[in-house]
Amino acid sequence: MKNESDFLVIGSGVAGLLFALKVADHGTVTIITKRNLAESNTAYAQGGIAAVVAETDTFESHIADTHASGDGLCNPQVVETVVKSAPERIQELVELGVRFNRNRENTSGTADLHLDLCREGGHSHNRIVHADDLTGLAVEEALVDQVRRHKNIAVFENHIAIDLITRSTNLQRGMTITNHEVYCYGAYVMDRNTTDIHTFCAKTIMLATGGAGKVYAYTSNPDIATGDGIAMAYRAGATVANLEFVQFHPTCLFHPEAKNFLISEAVRGDGGLLVNAAGERFMENYSPLKELACRDVVARAIDAELKKRGDDSVFLDISHKDTDFIKTRFPNLYAKCLSFGIDMTTDPIPVVPAAHYMCGGVATDICGRTNIQRLFAVGETACTGLHGANRLASNSLLEALVYAHNAAAQAIEDMQSFAFEVSPELPSWDDLGAIDSDEVIMVSHSWDAVRRLMWNYVGIVRSDKRLARARRRIDMIQDEINEYYWDFKITPDLIELRNITMVGDLIIRCATHRKESRGLHYSIAYPEKNDARWKKDTVLRRPFIH
Ligand code: FAD
Ligand code: SIN
Repeated sequence: MKNESDFLVIGSGVAGLLFALKVADHGTVTIITKRNLAESNTAYAQGGIAAVVAETDTFESHIADTHASGDGLCNPQVVETVVKSAPERIQELVELGVRFNRNRENTSGTADLHLDLCREGGHSHNRIVHADDLTGLAVEEALVDQVRRHKNIAVFENHIAIDLITRSTNLQRGMTITNHEVYCYGAYVMDRNTTDIHTFCAKTIMLATGGAGKVYAYTSNPDIATGDGIAMAYRAGATVANLEFVQFHPTCLFHPEAKNFLISEAVRGDGGLLVNAAGERFMENYSPLKELACRDVVARAIDAELKKRGDDSVFLDISHKDTDFIKTRFPNLYAKCLSFGIDMTTDPIPVVPAAHYMCGGVATDICGRTNIQRLFAVGETACTGLHGANRLASNSLLEALVYAHNAAAQAIEDMQSFAFEVSPELPSWDDLGAIDSDEVIMVSHSWDAVRRLMWNYVGIVRSDKRLARARRRIDMIQDEINEYYWDFKITPDLIELRNITMVGDLIIRCATHRKESRGLHYSIAYPEKNDARWKKDTVLRRPFIH
């Protein structure tokens, strides 16, 4: 099958859905998404969206907090644009039907919405707009509802993109060319139900495939977060940047039956205290901001505490707060913890750090454009310059909202000003004989091997020796995938294994390159920050071979 539309959107989290809605009045839109429409990191976001909407808060303060967290690597123009766009994007979400918590006592500058604002680490004001402790779900459901009703949007669920289709228009085969001459025409996509592979073409292609938490053995992310967009874009010749900056969230639930469950930073924002297994508070030994220090500092402090004491977890304790307050403020966390036998109104919650957010990604400009013509990237898959070396809490949903808006405006303008060729004659996917492999077990072992080696050797604290070992092992797994498994009939598991392995390799290469410690990248060999040499992005690009 060949599908043609004006806009092809790969991914259906906040970034993809908002972009789709914004361009849908200007052309036909196809959304492909690898599970159901709502399944995304977005749907699990708890804390909220950072925005200056209180009269007592200022843009300058949000900008300063973002830079402080980013540890010298944020792009000032990007930070200012995103922070100043936030109130408008929040207003838009309210109009799209998102029901944020209100507090009549709060006077907000945003059309007097009286939004309830909470606090998270690294913020010097209460500025987190939220919908209880399920903010992402509220946003995702409102957008899904609108998308399902739009007549110009076609949705293909359970369809997984394998690779982008790129062409150079003016060079002959065998030549290595620079990327501004490369055009993206669409993607090869597998229908997970039939395993058939189809060609999806469009005039504009939006990569909104989210993060890569599944590269690590322990993560707050759901199963979809396998870094597919970063891997596909890199293979196609797009520039990627800053992949060494993997954010580990300090507080994921530690329980044998809990899979990927986050305990929101808002718990610390509302007074939750971190204690070790002996019941002693320890954050004051690591930062004057204590529990409300930035995430990189808190995650490293917990890691150090666990190693020092040999414990399995530390504890997050908010039981000193009023019971009704806890139940009303954190209804989802309360219920979830209780289902594991932990009553957070009386007991401390066992927590550990886990991979949470990818600050690096596909490099874009302020409109979400990549260095490949017609290819945009927005949301967690992109590296815009907002987060620098460490993302400030609740700036991610905000970034996705602002960039979906900017990219839509740019893509609509491009459509109007150029006569686009939808797609030249594109070859169908070559499935190389498509013999079923009996190596399903080996694929699953390789998944496990990649995720464990990334956790053990490329985690919160890194060393040259461990990075070198990780590099050797991941090279072997990449060779196995490329030279052996890829010759058989491919499966969704294999597609994702290829992507987590490639993203793991890119993380290792970026981490090995940076000979200092900054933000989320901490190396015991180079424990100091070195502005003179390293106050710059780490940029990687694979040559495009036509
Ligand atoms: P996602 O929402 O992850 O969407 C990606 C989409 O792409 C999915 O639909 C996926 O199925 C699809 N996809 C991926 N690969 C393919 C492929 N090959 N083919 C087809 N489809 C594909 N941020 C905040 O700002 N505030 C918070 O409070 C907050 N809390 C969080 C809590 C948790 C537990 C987690 C995991 C993250 C949290 N974050 C938070 C981060 C934030 O949720 C994400 O960064 C953001 O939602 C990413 O949005 P996105 O649209 O870029 O990607
Ligand atoms: C959280 O609720 O702690 C997550 C916030 C974020 O990732 O920005």
